[in-house]
Amino acid sequence: MTQGAEAAAEAPHPQAAILDGKALASRIEASLTAEVETFVDVCKRRPRLVVVLVGDVAASASYVKSKQQAAARVGIDSEVVRVDDSVVTAELVDLIRRIAAEEHGPADGILVQLPLPDQVDERAVLDAVPPDQDVDGFHPENAGLLSQGRPRFVPCTAAGVQRMLIDAGVETAGKHAVIVGRSDIVGKPLALLLASRGTGGDATVTICHSRSAGLAEITRTADILVAAVGRPELITADMVKPGAAVVDVGINRVVDPATGKGRLVGDVDFAAVRAIAGWISPVPGGVGPLTVAMLLANTLLAAEIRIGHRRGG
Ligand code: GUN
Repeated sequence: MTQGAEAAAEAPHPQAAILDGKALASRIEASLTAEVETFVDVCKRRPRLVVVLVGDVAASASYVKSKQQAAARVGIDSEVVRVDDSVVTAELVDLIRRIAAEEHGPADGILVQLPLPDQVDERAVLDAVPPDQDVDGFHPENAGLLSQGRPRFVPCTAAGVQRMLIDAGVETAGKHAVIVGRSDIVGKPLALLLASRGTGGDATVTICHSRSAGLAEITRTADILVAAVGRPELITADMVKPGAAVVDVGINRVVDPATGKGRLVGDVDFAAVRAIAGWISPVPGGVGPLTVAMLLANTLLAAEIRIGHRRGG
């Protein structure tokens, strides 16, 4: 072995670069703030978001609070409509229709925080949000537009993951992206984005899920690995190709056996995978803040489409 090769063999792999979603979200918020002020100059009102929050699940309340605080930072008005967790589907559908008819004031964007209680038909509720106010991008019309390559409102987390990769300069064209998780909220829309033509796209995409055989063999072939299943630290170092970009969408609350206290962990074993990957997003401070930033961008887009300043779809 030459001296150089010996040194290379012994050199520890440099730790992965951190995909700092919080810092990127701050930059996005700064540019949105300026765009919102332009909207206000023209329209003499602020874009407005109405959030429906059902029940008192602590995590949902905390996410909604973050969304409201972020909206306020960029100059978007917001209102949270709280609903008792005994609500039934018809009542929730009726409430959404009334919000859409602006009984609760202007509503450029309407968002129903998930999950909903078991007795509620989630699909029926999400379908009741008019597609041009659907800032979550969950309505079938918006899902269809995305699948046809003419996106209008893209689901916020999926949009945030793609933005994070573009911002970090992670090449997607011709690369193998493996997404673990097939949800309508993250996995499916992200697969469409990464496979679409253009910047942040042109990847070869594989979607894995709970019935996938040989998960580790598949993830080891990923240049870009996205974990979005909600299983604490499912992705271990042996499942990661050296140098891969690893994006962790999971937010799991676990009890630390050492301290007995609750803490947040992602779907990726961060410490171990950081030693192998080329890039890795942390939890918290990774994808979460970007999801919120993309929601703000969608709300401004909804307001602009409404006044005819932007074309939707
Ligand atoms: N709950 C978890 N993620 C989301 C999201 O992106 N949108 C909504 N509305 N609820 C969620």
